[in-house]
Amino acid sequence: MLIRALAPSDSPLLAALHAAAFPPGEAWGQDAFARLVALPGAVGVVAADGGVPVGFVLARRAADEAEILALAVVPEWRRRGVGRALLAACLEGLAGQGVGRVFLEVAADNTGARALYRAAGFVPAGLRRDYYGVGRDGLLLVRLLSPPCAG
Ligand SMILES: CC(C)(COP(=O)(O)OP(=O)(O)OC[C@H]1O[C@@H](n2cnc3c(N)ncnc32)[C@H](O)[C@@H]1OP(=O)(O)O)[C@@H](O)C(=O)NCCC(=O)NCCS
Repeated sequence: MLIRALAPSDSPLLAALHAAAFPPGEAWGQDAFARLVALPGAVGVVAADGGVPVGFVLARRAADEAEILALAVVPEWRRRGVGRALLAACLEGLAGQGVGRVFLEVAADNTGARALYRAAGFVPAGLRRDYYGVGRDGLLLVRLLSPPCAG
């Protein structure tokens, strides 16, 4: 499994992986990803096996804070550590850029993603009721990162 930094030209790839990972109707589409990867501070990583992309994480940094915007692994590659590796690589890159706090939002009923984030050290920071539709709350999570070693 190779993990590489995201490039601006990756937006069609991110759209395809996102569409494969999320239910129909929840996919963000290529235009959305083109806008997201062009935002100032956009960073991310892609995981590939034998040259075939299987997942990605996209984040946005602003000063010493960042937000994970999307994390997706294609269904046939799940529960093999790809999500954990993507998140770890992303957090390491953000820490190296001086980020001290990373936020993300996850649907309260997304038990798999919540377990992954909990294991990665994210803790609850807020609740957004009905954020994903009536009766489907959003949870705001945060993880503090150690500053990079001086010297
Ligand atoms: C959430 C997602 C990214 C996880 O990717 P993954 O590659 O399967 O995750 P990993 O294999 O690295 O899992 C790491 C740990 O997270 C937890 N975890 C991951 N998926 C889980 C699930 N479905 N149920 C329970 N725990 C889960 C486990 O603790 C797992 O460790 P283990 O396999 O040793 O028990 C993937 O399921 C996905 O793309 N889902 C659809 C998109 C999505 O929900 N994205 C997040 C939106 S905020």
